[in-house]
Amino acid sequence: MKIITSITMLRQILDNYRRQNKSIGFVPTMGAFHKGHLSLMRRCRKDHDIALVSIFVNPTQFAPGEDLSSYPRNKKNDVLLAKEENIDIIFYPSVKKLYSGRYLTHINVGEISEELCGKTRPNHFQGVATIVGKLINIVQPHVLYLGQKDAQQSVVIQQMVQDLNFPVKIKVLPTTREKNGLAMSSRNKYLSVEERKQASVLYKSLLLAKIKINAGQRNANAIIKSMRRNITENASCSIEYIACVDTQTLKPLKKLRGKILIALAVRFGHARLIDNILINMKD
Ligand code: PAF
Repeated sequence: MKIITSITMLRQILDNYRRQNKSIGFVPTMGAFHKGHLSLMRRCRKDHDIALVSIFVNPTQFAPGEDLSSYPRNKKNDVLLAKEENIDIIFYPSVKKLYSGRYLTHINVGEISEELCGKTRPNHFQGVATIVGKLINIVQPHVLYLGQKDAQQSVVIQQMVQDLNFPVKIKVLPTTREKNGLAMSSRNKYLSVEERKQASVLYKSLLLAKIKINAGQRNANAIIKSMRRNITENASCSIEYIACVDTQTLKPLKKLRGKILIALAVRFGHARLIDNILINMKD
């Protein structure tokens, strides 16, 4: 496995693979690998001749006061885990390499960046779209792998790829969960043992919503209310949002029909956790 820090060197190596008609799969990450990352890597490895992972804690997607400086970083362990997944290349650039000198260009994916998490993290998705756009241009992969846990991020990146005609296919893979249902996240490291236990209520509340919808409930407010009650009765936390939205526009729905996304963001101590489920209603 190669660890590359230089954009020029990475381009040379990948140009060479492309000339040999090798397919390139790409998993962009901020490191601190957990089983969710590993499942993306495994799929990327299985699908492609060349499997590439980037590790870059992207400063432009953190607002002042957010956890940029404390975000978990563990290069040594990440390298070991990527090796175990038979990854060919880790791209490990510095902030200076990606945002050199007078950096002025940003990708803003319009109104879908302002819904859900965008309400409390106003520039977050601009930072995500910009770095992923840059990484796609550097790597030029055939397929880019993302996790469903970051549902809004996937929708924003898919929209950007479509709008800007990036020649890359996006695959969004299911959320990997702990035994108790908690969605795997690098930020779970911020949780105490008790908070980790309590945070399992988030997925339970999403499953409760699914049960109610399967039983015929179509009123979004009723679903949100019952989820809110379920969470507050079982955990000491602060709910940022619970929303039932259209899977493409991410706009809130009043009456539920077709394909919907139920998403939430909840704070447990220092950890801001997000989770979601997709539901496809036949009637
Ligand atoms: O999901 C993440 O880890 C990041 O938002 C990403 C896609 C690597 C961009 O920095």
